[in-house]
Amino acid sequence: MTTTPPSSAPGAGGPGEPPRAPAAAPAPKPAAVNRRDFLWLGWGALVSFLGASAAATARFFFPNVIYEPSQKFNAGPAQSYDKGVSTRWLNEQRVWIVRTDEGFYALWARCTHLGCTPNWFGDQGRFRCPCHGSNFNPDGDVIAGPAPIPLWRTKVEIATTGDLIIDKAVLENREGLRGNEPYFAKYA
Ligand code: FES
Repeated sequence: MTTTPPSSAPGAGGPGEPPRAPAAAPAPKPAAVNRRDFLWLGWGALVSFLGASAAATARFFFPNVIYEPSQKFNAGPAQSYDKGVSTRWLNEQRVWIVRTDEGFYALWARCTHLGCTPNWFGDQGRFRCPCHGSNFNPDGDVIAGPAPIPLWRTKVEIATTGDLIIDKAVLENREGLRGNEPYFAKYA
């Protein structure tokens, strides 16, 4: 007894059928990371981390610095000031310079309530703040309004050249201190 092979065996192709393409070869497996590559990856990560840490530490020692204009300025010859309140430096330096019979002092033109710039009213002999109505006398004391403390006086000195030097970085407003050096410069 003879047996005939089935006509539909895989790859055989039946009568009249085109021959089938051979099965595709299996995709190659990705190369496994060997121990040496793994160690290099670890070292790379460690070096990156240490570099970033060093950069952050170095940055800490060089903080952002805001360079502001100097608070000290030359207000010109003392002899050029008349007695009374001068508004000569109000717009440029936010300071009033006051000459008395004995000398000079300078007031920082910043309201001690919320920081607005008061105006000098010579006919009334007072500074008046346009924001909430505080009034100050020429000494800087509060005579009306919500301002809680007197105006600040700045350091003032007369240079050997005869010029007035004002330093807004040094301030005082307490009675008994504000009338003395360096917040008052004697000038005949
Ligand atoms: S800021 Fe001057 S009274 Fe308020």
